[in-house]
Amino acid sequence: MSVPRHRWYFYKEGFSPLLVEKAIEVANVKPEELIIDPFNGSGTTTLTSSLLGFRSTGIEVNPFTSFLSDAKTKTSSTNEINRWRDSLMLASQKKASSPLMGYSTFSKAPGLEKWLFNDDVLMAFEGAWASTSDVKSRDLRKLLRLSLISSAMQNCNARRDGKCMKYKESWKRLGYDRTSFQERLFQNIEVIKEDINSTNIKKAPQIINGDSRTILKTDRSIDQFKLCITSPPYLNTFDYTDIYRPELFLGKFVKDTQQLYDIRLKTVRSHIQAKWKSPEQLDFGLLFQQVMSHVNANRDALMDKSIPTMIQAYFEDIYGVLKELRLKASKDAQVWFVVSNSAYADLEVPVDLIIGDIGAKAGWFLQEIGVLRYLKRRKTKYSPSVENLRESVIVFSAGK
Ligand SMILES: C[S@@+](CC[C@H](N)C(=O)[O-])C[C@H]1O[C@@H](n2cnc3c(N)ncnc32)[C@H](O)[C@@H]1O
Repeated sequence: MSVPRHRWYFYKEGFSPLLVEKAIEVANVKPEELIIDPFNGSGTTTLTSSLLGFRSTGIEVNPFTSFLSDAKTKTSSTNEINRWRDSLMLASQKKASSPLMGYSTFSKAPGLEKWLFNDDVLMAFEGAWASTSDVKSRDLRKLLRLSLISSAMQNCNARRDGKCMKYKESWKRLGYDRTSFQERLFQNIEVIKEDINSTNIKKAPQIINGDSRTILKTDRSIDQFKLCITSPPYLNTFDYTDIYRPELFLGKFVKDTQQLYDIRLKTVRSHIQAKWKSPEQLDFGLLFQQVMSHVNANRDALMDKSIPTMIQAYFEDIYGVLKELRLKASKDAQVWFVVSNSAYADLEVPVDLIIGDIGAKAGWFLQEIGVLRYLKRRKTKYSPSVENLRESVIVFSAGK
């Protein structure tokens, strides 16, 4: 949150730009060579590559995060930004009605004890958002819309907490309103101006909004990459379309739950919030078999009976991606895969080691599995004795 441009949006699940820099150095990437990230999230890979002058492509299924990664690489003149900032401030004074007022738990409504946004915040947001349609420059429009979404989330009565939104302590007393929204908007736009003036996007990235499992098969622009540095969703039942639901609705990327569900169906099968086709039941070696036997034999100790199917499906998705990546790799390419282990039925699932096996099955040479850190787990009744989870980077290479 202190690095220019990266700090334009608080995205908890991102990795560090330093890791991307390290991978670029170790893989010895030349400026004309391609860097890709098939799970680009908030765009740490593409932004870092762009600032260093490398060609990069990011694929991201969630339209909000895809927009975020794109917006973070945009630039505009201070004069233009100032002019539009003043217009947005005026527009946020209007009594604009928001489609989210009265929808789900987005605003105060009869029978609701808690709501995400106070009406004043939604109205200020909507008034300013409507005026961004008049901004001719697409880049500037993206910058302004990003700062609007960010300001709304900073005025949200709840904050992200792991897999859910948790209401802030004494949230009613915080009294978010039009003024607090405008203050945040002003600050966010100041930060954007400052960072645009202190950084230089040397090579704009290509950002593709879609499912990497199909894009990698069909998109011809992704070929002969030198480095893939990525972090897929972890095997932890975390659903990014749920956790970024407020942003998806605020930014009008979705209008209803059906559209949200349609995106969810395209995500990697790392959660249980969608009905997918059954996995094919591929085998990924001894460690994988041990995990499957353990979870199948201890179904009563699982939070949901579909967890064994999810685990099988997850590794099949990862296998599919690593196989496609192998076909698109240059002869001395590397893949850096960041994952954490998971816990099911009181067993630590060694996701990193299993992915090591899966990569070999997909035609990669396993170079190394390096431990990044140990993540402290909250105690749950399902896996009481697993206290920490290893987070690792698995490095594969195309040549020996
Ligand atoms: C751990 S996050 C990546 C964070 C990223 N490294 C960063 O620094 O911001 C995983 C991302 O994978 C995305 N994702 C899930 N399924 C996907 C799919 N089928 N295709 C592309 N992206 C997907 C999620 O939406 C999420 O943004």
